[in-house]
Amino acid sequence: MATYKLSDFTLDEKLHLLSGKDNWHLWDGDGKLPLLRLADGPHGMRIYNEDGSVKPATAMPCLSAIGSTFNRELAYLSGNTIADECIEMGAAVLLAPGVNTRRCPLNGRNFEYFSEDPFLSGELGAAYIEGVQVKGIGTSLKHYCANLREYDRFYQGCDIDERALREIYLAAFEGALRAKPYTVMCSFTPINGVYASENRYLLKDMLRDEFGFDGVVISDWGAVHSIYKSVKAGLDLTMPYRADNYSRLKEAYERGLLSDEEIDFCVRNILTLIERTQNDRKVVTTTKEERYQNAVRIAKEAVVLLKNEDGLLPLRAGNVLISGSFVRRPPTGGGGSSFVETTYVQRPLNELLNEKGGATYETPAGHAIDSKGKIPIGLRNLYHAAYGKDAVVLCVGEDNTVECESFDRQSIRLNPQTERMILDTAAINENVVVLVYAGSAIDMSAWIDKVKAVVFVGFLGEGVNEALAAILSGEVSPSGKLTESFPLSLKESCAGTDPGNGYTEWFQEGIFVGYRYYDKWDKEVLFPFGHGLSYADLTYSNLRIEKKSETDYTVTYDIENRSDFDAMEASQVYVSDVFSMVTRPKKELKGFSKDLIPAHGKTTVSVPLNARSFAYYNTSLKDWHIENGIFKILVGASSRDIRLSADIEITLPDETQYSVYFAQHVM
Ligand code: BGC
Repeated sequence: MATYKLSDFTLDEKLHLLSGKDNWHLWDGDGKLPLLRLADGPHGMRIYNEDGSVKPATAMPCLSAIGSTFNRELAYLSGNTIADECIEMGAAVLLAPGVNTRRCPLNGRNFEYFSEDPFLSGELGAAYIEGVQVKGIGTSLKHYCANLREYDRFYQGCDIDERALREIYLAAFEGALRAKPYTVMCSFTPINGVYASENRYLLKDMLRDEFGFDGVVISDWGAVHSIYKSVKAGLDLTMPYRADNYSRLKEAYERGLLSDEEIDFCVRNILTLIERTQNDRKVVTTTKEERYQNAVRIAKEAVVLLKNEDGLLPLRAGNVLISGSFVRRPPTGGGGSSFVETTYVQRPLNELLNEKGGATYETPAGHAIDSKGKIPIGLRNLYHAAYGKDAVVLCVGEDNTVECESFDRQSIRLNPQTERMILDTAAINENVVVLVYAGSAIDMSAWIDKVKAVVFVGFLGEGVNEALAAILSGEVSPSGKLTESFPLSLKESCAGTDPGNGYTEWFQEGIFVGYRYYDKWDKEVLFPFGHGLSYADLTYSNLRIEKKSETDYTVTYDIENRSDFDAMEASQVYVSDVFSMVTRPKKELKGFSKDLIPAHGKTTVSVPLNARSFAYYNTSLKDWHIENGIFKILVGASSRDIRLSADIEITLPDETQYSVYFAQHVM
C-alpha cells in the first residue's frame, strides 16, 4: 500500500516537489517527506561536505575500464561496492551509470561510458544497476540520450536518423533499462531539434511506453530551459534548485498551459521514488579494505595488453627501468562530476613490482613528467639510465586535466614531447614497454612500430598500481579488451573533429558507428574493437549451435589453454545477416562471455542469442524486424579476429515476412 498519496499534497506542494530543494536534495515538504539525497557516481561516491569540499571515497575503475573487463559480474561488483558507501554517506540515489554509445574519440567524457557498442553497454549497465539497487539504493541511468561530445555541451545538438537512434543510441539504454533503474537522467542535448529535457518522443513514447520505465526522469543539472515544457514532455524532476522553478510552474498552471493530470503524473513518480528508497535492504557488508580489494579485482581484469612482440611481457628477470610520474601518482579517473577524491596513497609501481621477485625495477634519477602528467623533463637522465637496461617501461598518457567533463580532448595523440620521448628511448633500448593511461582511444601510430609492448591501462581507480604489478609480473594474465576501436588517426573515425555547423551535428554515418563504420568502409585500424592479448595461448574450437526456437539459440564453443598461465578470456559472439533488404553492419556484437581457462585446461562457453540478436529497426514498419534467411554466427577473440563461424537459417512464418524475391515462391 502506498505510504504517500497524491491527495495528501496541495497544488503548491506538488509544484515544489517538481524541482530540487537545493543542489543535491529532493524537496521534502518541510519535513512531511524524508529528505532524499542524490550523489554522483559512477566511479565511486562524490558527495559534498557542508563547506563544499568533497568527501573521500573509494575510487573504483571508470566505466570505460569496466567495459574492458567484458565481465557482467564485475560491473555488478562495482555498483555493489559503491552502494555500501552510499549507505554510509547517506545518499539515496547514485547518479550512475552512463551508457551513451561512444561515437567520437575526442569526447571528453568517453571514460564515463562503457563502449562504442550498445549491446555491451546495455548489458554492463544493467549489471551495474542491479549491483547498486540490490542494496536499496537507487540509480540514475544517464545521459538519456546522445550526450556524445562536450563541445558547447549545454546547447550542441545532434541530428540522428531514426534507425541510428534506435539501433545505436537508444539500444544501450533499452538494454540497461531491463534492470529497472529508479531514475533516468535526461541529457543536455537537443536531439533532432528538441532538447532531451523537452523531448516527448524520447521521454514518453520511447522511455515509458515502449521501454516500460516506471521511475523518475531527472534533468541533468541545468538541462531544463522551460520547466513547464519539460513537465509536459514527461520530465518529473528538475535539478538543481532554482528560485524561479516554482513560480514558473505556477504561472504556467494558472495560464492553463499545464494540467493537474500532467503535474500529478510527475508527483506520483516522485512519491514512488521516495517509497522505493525507504527500504530495509540498506546494509553495509564491506569494509573500506574490502572495497579497495574489489577495486583491485576489477582493475586486474580491465588492463588491455595491446601488443607484446617476442613475448616480452611478463618481465620475469633482468634489470628494468620504469619511468614517469605515473609510477607514484597514476591517474585514477577522468575529471568532472565523476572524479572520486580517494585518500588511498599509492605505493610506487616499482616498489610493488620489486616485491613480486623476478625482474628488478629502478626509476631514473633526475627524470620526471611535469606536475600535470604531460611534459617529460630531464630526458638526458632518462636515456642514460635506459642504456643497457634489459627493458624500459614508460608510463605515459592522460589524466583528469586532459580527459574531463565540460570539454573535449584536443587530439587523440599523446603530446609531441611524449611521443618524441618514446621514440628516443626506443632508439637507445630495444625492449621498450609503453603503459598508456587514458579513458578513450589513443592514436599511437607515430611510435607503436618502434616499441615491443604496449599496455592500455585505462583509468583504473585506486587499485591501479596493484593491478599493474600483478599483470607486469605475470602473476595475472591480462584479459581486458578494447571496447572502442582505436583508429589509425582521428580523421579515420566516423565523427572526427567536426562538431557540424558549430551548434548542431548531422550524424551522417547513421548506424555505422565504431567498428560498424571501420568494417563497412574496410578501413584498417590501429586496434580493433574487442582486441586484447593474453599471456596464455588460447585456441577456440568445436562451435555448435543449438536451436531452441526459430529465434532463440545457444552458441557453444570450447576454449583451450595451452600455456602455464591461468587466463580469463573475453570471447565475443557476432551476428551477420548474409542477405538483407536493408543495409546492415557486416557484423554486430550480440553476445559475450568472460571465462576462466585454467592453465593446460579447457572451458566450454555458452552464449545465448535471441530474437533481438537478428533484428534491425525497420523504419517502414516502425518496429524491429527479422528478415528470414541465413545468418552467420561468428565467434571471435576480437571483432577482427574471428576464430569460428557457422551459418544458421531463420524461417519465420510467411505472414511475418515481406516479399523479397521477384519470383514468388510463396502464397
Ligand atoms: C553531469 C552529470 C552529473 C550532474 C551532477 C552534470 O553536469 O552532466 O553527469 O550527474 O552534473 O553533478
